[in-house]
Amino acid sequence: MSAQVVNQIIKEAAIKAAHETNDEPEPGLTKGVEWPVTATLGRGLEGAISNTTEIGYVNGAKGWLIYRGYNCFDLAEQSSFEETAYLLLYGKLPTISDLNGFNDKLLAYRNIPQSVIQVLKMLPIKKSHPMSSLATAVSVLGNLDGDSDKAEVEAEREISIKLIAQMATIAAAIARIRQGREPVNPDPTLSNAANFLYMMTGEAPDEVAERIMDVSLILHADHGMNASTFTTMVVNSSLSDMYSSVVGGIGSLKGPLHGGANERVLYDLQEIGSPDNVTSWFNKARESKRKVMGFGHRVYKAYDPRARILGPVAHLMAEKNAESQRLYDTAVALEKAVTQALGKEKKIFPNVDFYSGIVYKAMSIDTAMFTPIFAVSRIAGWTARALEYLKDNRLFRPRAVYTGPAKAEYIGIDRR
Ligand code: COA
Repeated sequence: MSAQVVNQIIKEAAIKAAHETNDEPEPGLTKGVEWPVTATLGRGLEGAISNTTEIGYVNGAKGWLIYRGYNCFDLAEQSSFEETAYLLLYGKLPTISDLNGFNDKLLAYRNIPQSVIQVLKMLPIKKSHPMSSLATAVSVLGNLDGDSDKAEVEAEREISIKLIAQMATIAAAIARIRQGREPVNPDPTLSNAANFLYMMTGEAPDEVAERIMDVSLILHADHGMNASTFTTMVVNSSLSDMYSSVVGGIGSLKGPLHGGANERVLYDLQEIGSPDNVTSWFNKARESKRKVMGFGHRVYKAYDPRARILGPVAHLMAEKNAESQRLYDTAVALEKAVTQALGKEKKIFPNVDFYSGIVYKAMSIDTAMFTPIFAVSRIAGWTARALEYLKDNRLFRPRAVYTGPAKAEYIGIDRR
C-alpha cells in the first residue's frame, strides 16, 4: 500500500463535502468588526466575539475548515504538518527555502533537556494522565528558560517554534516512560510525523503510517476559538509567557468535552463491544441523557470535514487486525444510530474525535496517548493565535452576572 491511497481518500472526502453542503448559503466573510460589537450570547460564551483573526475560519453550516484561506482538504492532501505550522505562524505558505529554514529550526529544537525527562520519571506517570504529564513537562521548559517573560512577538514566536518542535518529543517520552521504557532521541532525518511515531515505538514508520499521522496533525492544527485555544490566548493576554499559556491550553484540551473525547470514544466502543450491541447501548445512553463522545459540536451543524477524512482513514486502518475491524464496524453502527436519531433534529454528527482513536489504535498507540497527539498538533494553532493577538493585545476580562445576595450580615465564626 502506498501513501497515495490516503490522498485518494482525502480527494473523495472533499468531493463528498462539496456535494452534501452545496445548498447551504455561501458564508459572508467579514473584513473586521467595529468595536464595540453587538452579539447575542448563549451560556458558555456561545455567540461571543472575542477578537478578529486572519488565521483560521470554521463555517459550521458548510462544514468548512480553512487555515489562512486554504481549505483543510487541500492542505491535508498536499501539505505537511511543518508547512501547515509555518502557514499558521507566518501567514503564508513557505517557499522551499522558507521551509528548509523552518525545518532547520525545528531540528535544532527537537531534543528536550534531560531535566525534563528526569522530572517525567519522577511523576507517578503510570497513574497520572499523560496530558497532566505533558503540562508538567512544558512548565519545566518554562522554568528552564530564564528569558521567557519578554511578552514580545518575536521572542514569543521563537518559543512557539521551540514548543512546536518539542511537543512531539515530550509526548513520545511520556508514552515510553509509561511503558517502563527509555525515551528515544529524535532522528534528524525524519519529518515531524515520522519522528513522533519513531520516538514512541523505536521504529521508523512505513510510508502510509507517516502520511496518516501527518494528515491527522494537519487536520488538528487549528480550529477557531475552541476552548484550549481561547484558554491559551486568555493566559497570554495578561502578558504572562508562552509556556504558561500553553500549559493552560493543555489543561483545557484534556477535558472530555474537548480533546479528551477521542480517548473516551475508544473506551465507549470497547464497552459496546460489537455492532449488535449498539442499539441497546445507545438507547441506555439516551435514557440517562449521556452525551455520546465524538458527536456534536458547538460550531458544526454539518458533518465535520475532519471526520470526513478520518472516517475513511479508519476504514483503511481497520484492515490491520480483527480488533480494529470490530472497533470500526461498531463505530459505523453507532454513527448510523446517532445520526438517525439526532442528525436531522439536533444536527449531531461525528466530530474529529470520533474516528481518530480507531486510526491511532490500529497504529498500536496506547489509548491514553490520543489526546497528547492532539496537543502535538494543536500547539501550532495555540501559539499562532496567541502571537497574533499579542500584536494588539488587550486583557481578556469578561463579566459574570452576579445572582447572589447583596447584603449578607457577617456572623462571626463562633456564632455560625
Ligand atoms: N450526544 C448526544 N446529544 C448531544 C451531543 C452528543 N454528543 N452533543 C450535543 N447533544 C445535544 C444536547 O443534549 C443538547 O440537547 P437539548 O437541546 O435537548 O438539551 C443539544 O444537543 C445541544 O448540546 P449542548 O451541550 O448545548 O452543545 P454545546 O455546544 O454546549 O456542546 C459539545 C458541544 C462538543 C461539548 C457537545 O456536543 C458534546 O459534549 N459532545 C461530546 C464530547 C465531544 O465529542 N467533544 C469533542 C468536540 S470536538
